[in-house]
Formats: sequence, C-alpha cells, structure tokens
Amino acid sequence: MIIGLPKEIKDNEYRVGLTPAGVRGLTDAGHQVLVEATAGEGSGFEDSLYNRAGAGITESADKVWAEAEMIVKVKEPIAPEYPRMRAGQLLFTYLHLAPDSGLTEELLQRKVTGVAYETITDRRGTLPLLTPMSEVAGRMAIQVGAHYLEKMSGGRGILLGGVPGVPAARVVIIGGGVVGTNAAKIAVGMGAHVTIIDNNLDRLRELDDIFLSKIATLASSAYMIHDAVSSADLIIGAVLVPGAAAPRLVTRNMLKDVTDGSVIVDVAVDQGGCVETTHPTTHSDPTFYVEGVLHYCVANMPGAVPRTSTFALTNSTLPYALKLANNGFEVAVNSDPGLAAGVNTYAGKLTYEAVAISQGREYTPLGSLLGA
Ligand SMILES: NC(=O)c1ccc[n+]([C@@H]2O[C@H](COP(=O)([O-])OP(=O)(O)OC[C@H]3O[C@@H](n4cnc5c(N)ncnc54)[C@H](O)[C@@H]3O)[C@@H](O)[C@H]2O)c1
Repeated sequence: MIIGLPKEIKDNEYRVGLTPAGVRGLTDAGHQVLVEATAGEGSGFEDSLYNRAGAGITESADKVWAEAEMIVKVKEPIAPEYPRMRAGQLLFTYLHLAPDSGLTEELLQRKVTGVAYETITDRRGTLPLLTPMSEVAGRMAIQVGAHYLEKMSGGRGILLGGVPGVPAARVVIIGGGVVGTNAAKIAVGMGAHVTIIDNNLDRLRELDDIFLSKIATLASSAYMIHDAVSSADLIIGAVLVPGAAAPRLVTRNMLKDVTDGSVIVDVAVDQGGCVETTHPTTHSDPTFYVEGVLHYCVANMPGAVPRTSTFALTNSTLPYALKLANNGFEVAVNSDPGLAAGVNTYAGKLTYEAVAISQGREYTPLGSLLGA
C-alpha cells in the first residue's frame, strides 16, 4: 500500500502522524511511504531520518494526498486539505466529527473512508488511541501546576514538595482515570500531599492498591469536593463521563473558600471542564483568574510536548496502521471489531451512530455496507 504522511497545517500543531520508527515498521512490511518535506520538523525528526527509514520525501502536499491510498495524520483535516481528499482514500487520524458538520459533509461528499483514532476500542471496551494523550496531559498537569504555583508565574509561591520543616503542597485530583492516575504519579514523585476523588469505588480501591499509603482517596460528593478543594493548593480536573459533557463538580461558590493564588488545571476542559468557571484557553494565552484562583484550561495540552506526544501516538497507532496496510481495509475491519468501531465514514455514508445522532444525519451500520 502507498501511505502518505503530510505535514500538519493546523495552527500551532507540531506533532506528526508517524515517527521515523513507525515509517520503518511500514516499509519493512513492504509498503511505500511518502513523507511531505519537513513534516516531522516540529517533533524534532529531520527528513533524512524518514529517508533512512525507507520513505520517499516530496516538497508537495498535493502529491502526498494524490498518491497515498492511506493518509496517516494527527489532527482532523482543515479547509485547505478538503480538496486533497479523494474517493476511496483511507484517512487515519483524530477526527472528532460530532461537533464538526462541515468536515463530516466533506468526508461524505468525497466518499473518504474516515477511521477516527478516538472511536477505536480495544477488547476491554476502552479507547486505546486516546489513552496516550491522557497519559501525556495527566503528567503535564502537575508540571504545569507546579510552574503556576510559583510567585513569578502568578501563584501562591509554594514549592510542590515542600522542604524539611515546611509542609508539601496539597494536590486534589478529581477523577482517578488515566489523566488522574498519571497526575498522581508525578505529584507523589515530587513529594506533594495527594488526594484523588472518584465516584467509582472500585477505581478508588485500585488506586489505593497502586499507591498504598502515598495518597488519600475520597468518594465523590459535593460535600467532600468542597471540603477538599478548600484546603488545596493545586486542583486537577480529570473527570470523564463518556459521551457527555463533564459534570461541573467544582462550583464558583466553592472557589470563594479556595486560597488566592491557588491553581486549577482543568484537563477535562475539552469536554467542557469539571470546574464551573472553566473556559478553554490556548498555549499562547493559557491562564486566567476567577475568585483569585489561577485557572489553566488548555484544550490541547499534549501539543506543548510534540516530540513525546508523537512517540506516544505512533506507539499506539502503528499496530492499526499496519493491520490496515497489510490486510486492506475490508479484511482489517472484518477481523477486528475494535478497529471497525473507528470507522466514522465509508463510501459516502455515516457509519458512527453517535456522530449521526449529534448531527441529525442518517446512520448506516458499516456491516451493511461491507456485506459482512
Ligand atoms: N486538555 C487536554 O489536552 C486533554 C488531553 C487528554 C485528555 N483530556 C481529557 O481529560 C479527561 C479525563 O480523561 P481520562 O482519559 O482520564 O478519562 P478516564 O475515563 O480514564 O477517567 C475519568 C474518571 O472520571 C471519573 N468520574 C466520572 N464521574 C465522576 C464524578 N462525578 N466524580 C468524580 N470522578 C468521576 C471516572 O470514574 C473515571 O475514573 C477527559 O475529558 C479527556 O478528554 C484532555
């Protein structure tokens, strides 16, 4: 199969769909990979590394899109990329179609086979291609929080780990899933006092086993959240209710009891945020204050560490890219229901029910189109 790796052109996007190691995996399996010149630059991969991994390099994005049977990307295509997509082409990337009727229409009109990273499932029913970005964002949340607790960055002037004779900072993590657990690892490692709040008692039991006595766990309720955030220096929002907007668990009223200069990192901002006063921010203007509390609510945190994120993404996407390339689309999705769950558009039909419902469009099960 001919696989295309275009440069991402979305504002401030420095990740790329494949590392040179990922390209090598595909070329070793007998596939041809065409890389747009400087595609990997933002993640620290020079063209020569892709070349050494067996890829062809071209200056022309149009050529990559025109020749590739499968395009591997990171972000959803944006307007300048729409005319490059063509019928029957496999597009393997994050798509996030539900709120994007315009892109959905383009994929349908152009009969593109859109396989979305974010809806692929594994045997446990979890979302394996979302996990790496949650791991990155969770670990980053503490790094960012520690930075903004510094006086010069606008915080209270507290060192996360304290020093002998001076207590460590209190970190409250709301939501003990992938983001929350990774945040806890870093916070514990830096010597902070860590409390994790979750409404899933079994998850709290697992966390108690993982961290032993190094963290406190609390069952989620408005009372306990109010109590915990009132004495917190750093609050991490890490809640997810799949398919729904995040519940607003920390209210504006609760913030009145939080000490000025404390910091909130609401990682769940991409689902609306679990703090009532959250609104999405960008890497170029990441913070704002409400009730004296510094809020950091960047919706694409992994974008700040594109090299780590690109490695983490390729580790997770490559097995699926290989399966698609080695077997062809139909055999690949017929043999892997989790991969089939990633198919959002096929042959001009919308094949992902949740997107169809959210856009009021007709839903066509993929199986009925493949005759499986
Ligand atoms: N801002 C970013 O750059 C970025 C990057 C990656 C992920 N995220 C977002 O971070 C959020 C968390 O992702 P995740 O992968 O950790 O999800 P996850 O499903 O692994 O974990 C979510 C946790 O929230 C808990 N939860 C649900 N309702 C709760 C409640 N009422 N009280 C307390 N806990 C509750 C769940 O039990 C679960 O343990 C998601 O919204 C995700 O999209 C944002």
